[in-house]
Amino acid sequence: MTETIIVGCGEVGTRLAQRLLARGEAVRGLVRSITSAARLAAVGVPSVVYDLMTPDAAPAGLVTAGVDLFHFAPPPEQGVLDLHTRHLVGLFAHSGNPRRIVYISTTGVYGDCRGAWIDETQPVQPQAERSQRRWDAEQTLQHWRERSGGEVVIVRVAGIYGPGRLPLARLRQGLPLVRPAEAPYSNRIHVEDLVTVCDAARERGVDGAVYNACDDAPSTMTEYFLAVAAAAGLPAPPLLPLAEASAQVSAGMRSYLAESRRISNRKLREELGVVLQYPDLAAGLRSLF
Ligand SMILES: NC(=O)c1ccc[n+]([C@@H]2O[C@H](COP(=O)([O-])OP(=O)(O)OC[C@H]3O[C@@H](n4cnc5c(N)ncnc54)[C@H](OP(=O)(O)O)[C@@H]3O)[C@@H](O)[C@H]2O)c1
Repeated sequence: MTETIIVGCGEVGTRLAQRLLARGEAVRGLVRSITSAARLAAVGVPSVVYDLMTPDAAPAGLVTAGVDLFHFAPPPEQGVLDLHTRHLVGLFAHSGNPRRIVYISTTGVYGDCRGAWIDETQPVQPQAERSQRRWDAEQTLQHWRERSGGEVVIVRVAGIYGPGRLPLARLRQGLPLVRPAEAPYSNRIHVEDLVTVCDAARERGVDGAVYNACDDAPSTMTEYFLAVAAAAGLPAPPLLPLAEASAQVSAGMRSYLAESRRISNRKLREELGVVLQYPDLAAGLRSLF
């Protein structure tokens, strides 16, 4: 049986590992810290500890030729290059190449689309540095594919929500939101649906292809926060003009406010055959409260 390794076996990876183990597959998770390895052991997921920033210290047998590899480790927090992915691909020269890599990227690589509906044919124009790092990772993997004959499927993921992954702390602080008329569009996916998408990408994804992972129903960021507040029984935050709200939020949130797009998931449904359990936020929130 082909072994599967999940590089960056955090929340999404752990859920996927548990699903694959339940089907009788051989799975290992790769994490950076001993604490995370202990967390995986506690839920029955075998793991290996290795920091992708240390290419010269990779333990023997970390990756073996012919494995299926899910790459879920985020890039480093600085710069416009993803050294983690570059180092990972460098390891294959010694270990042999995986059969297929499924990579979680971000829909941030599309940059600002001024609220337009887009699909995977939209040219990328990553603006934020975090999105430039993701684009670097995608290109590193596609170049590896061309050189090695190995397979790559890229999953561009929208905002992930689910149990323990809602902006409740922010809502409790009462931080302002952008008034609806000026609020940018955002896109989401429930974490369990993302696991289904990654599984399908390995099984049925076309080699070299990109798939957007989001639900059927983009909404403005303000609608999202208000829906979560209502579901959680929290007071609705104040609504301010964009310029005023931008001045009061973190730099990270400001960069999200600068981008607006509505993302189609048609390819996900039609080519990968994914049926979402939570096709819109209302369905997802019903399951969480
Ligand atoms: N948040 C969103 O809405 C969103 C949207 C699009 C894409 N994504 C991406 O989706 C992916 C999966 O998300 P998630 O929630 O499962 O992430 P997560 O829980 O933060 O897990 C990330 C994993 O990567 C490992 N990792 C980080 N740096 C590493 C390094 N230098 N070497 C080895 N392992 C390293 C971590 O190990 P340790 O725990 O040991 O540090 C952890 O196991 C991430 O890449 C995330 O950035 C997120």
